[in-house]
Amino acid sequence: MDITMTDAWRALRTHAEHFADLELRSLFAGDPERVGAMTLSVGDLVIDWSKNRITPAVLADLIALAETTRVADRATAMMRGDRINSTEDRAVLHTALRAPAGRTIVVDGEDVVPDVHRVLAKMATFTDRVRVGDWLGATGMPIKTVVNIGIGGSDLGPVMAYEALAAFRHPRIRCEFVSNVDGSDLAAAVSDLDPATTMFVISSKTFTTQETLTNATSARRWLADQLGADAVAKHFVAVSTNADAVAAFGIDTANMFNFWDWVGGRYSMDSAIGLSLMLAIGAEAFGEMLDGFRIVDDHFVSTPIAENAPAILGLIEVWYRTFCDLPTRAVLPYSRYLHRFPAYLQQLDMESNGKQVRLDGEPVTYETGPIIWGQAGTNGQHSFHQLLHQGTTVVPTDFILMAAPDHTNDQLAGVEAHHDLLVANCLAQSEALAFGKTADEVAATETNPALVNHRTFPGNRPSTTIMAPALTPSVLGQLVALYEHQVFTQGVVWGVNSFDQWGVELGKELATAIIPELVAPDEPALDHDASTNALIRRYRAMRK
Ligand code: F6P
Repeated sequence: MDITMTDAWRALRTHAEHFADLELRSLFAGDPERVGAMTLSVGDLVIDWSKNRITPAVLADLIALAETTRVADRATAMMRGDRINSTEDRAVLHTALRAPAGRTIVVDGEDVVPDVHRVLAKMATFTDRVRVGDWLGATGMPIKTVVNIGIGGSDLGPVMAYEALAAFRHPRIRCEFVSNVDGSDLAAAVSDLDPATTMFVISSKTFTTQETLTNATSARRWLADQLGADAVAKHFVAVSTNADAVAAFGIDTANMFNFWDWVGGRYSMDSAIGLSLMLAIGAEAFGEMLDGFRIVDDHFVSTPIAENAPAILGLIEVWYRTFCDLPTRAVLPYSRYLHRFPAYLQQLDMESNGKQVRLDGEPVTYETGPIIWGQAGTNGQHSFHQLLHQGTTVVPTDFILMAAPDHTNDQLAGVEAHHDLLVANCLAQSEALAFGKTADEVAATETNPALVNHRTFPGNRPSTTIMAPALTPSVLGQLVALYEHQVFTQGVVWGVNSFDQWGVELGKELATAIIPELVAPDEPALDHDASTNALIRRYRAMRK
């Protein structure tokens, strides 16, 4: 289907021609019920999206677009295991990872839910042993540090959640996350580690990823050099779908935690890929996180679009990106513990919807996935917020905040009071972005007329605020599922496959060709473009 030919699409194009006239000041003044009508709840999350430049008429056409593109049917198809990842001929069933025991989801004639719970139980047994000090390393010592080696979805989710749930961590167990093939990453992670108390979790869906296998091989050498090769069995476990490659690497498949090809890498933090996280927070808290995911899954698949939180957020993004031509979205958690959340979302959103062809292989004729960026507040206020407030680019922004502080620390008297300051700053930012300060308002107090324009804030900068009572495992699960389904909604409307990532392949292929050219003892014949050839020669010369 060419969605650009639909009535809803045309209507939205017409609305967008008047985007400049959509003034938040007048939208608020004209509708005292606006905030109530534009606030959604799911689980513990309250989502105020009233500060977006959207009228009821725009909303109605966005909902019509979701209906025309059958977002609800596609969600049902995804969750029942249809092979909606058509370019890889795979089901897309991350929602099965949090399905309760007893629910039936059939893939290739088999109910996958019992298998999901079998792996969760195996993870729980293993993590319990490590956490109580019953799993001993080769020299008889309990494990104190877990080093997760993985990249992309095999890193970003676990590290984000490990940071987010810092308050729930086991006091003895610390995790390190090694992803980059830059040797400094592994070197920094092991610099103060005792191999006798270190466990490596090699996380790779395919177990073929160059960065991960390179780091894992160096980590194995580091351990074997100090404790002997036989020690590897007690200090290395794997998380993968590829048992043969795990065995070939030298990890006993009894110590492998598997998942399935129907879990996409960037949708895998609640599969066995979350093993490091479970080691840190325990099986019970991990289960609470899964419950949180499920709350939003159930909401997404059963709620009409108009009340459906992930769907509405997805439609807002479609409005800005495709119709209003706003290229980026900032995600600003006012929570130190969520500082890796923007990086996590970058993969989730940009690897999913950074696509230029439709499901049928035809080029799209409209803008798709936005550039996602951000960092934890309040730091950004003292750097890039200047551009958000007074720059020439409008950046729709998601603010995320918790009512309770993430930390508790008896040694730091008074630190809990910081939280009100943090929240005040968050609320002030969205208020200032939306409503600004007019030249007249500035002139009322500014005595130097030359400064009036400089001190004026145009306002009318859209944002959404997501608030929850506290950053618990369940709330984190809810938040991640909210964004997963938002991304899904966008992908359906745009008609792209949100579950493949062919765009990462060419770089891998070219790097594989370049490696021997960098290390060849004799000057190699080079067949790249002139710039790449020159850079390779320069590198070789400098490396000497
Ligand atoms: O970057 C491409 C990608 O395939 C991601 O989608 C994935 O999360 C990452 O590489 C890691 O892959 P693997 O878990 O197979 O090592």
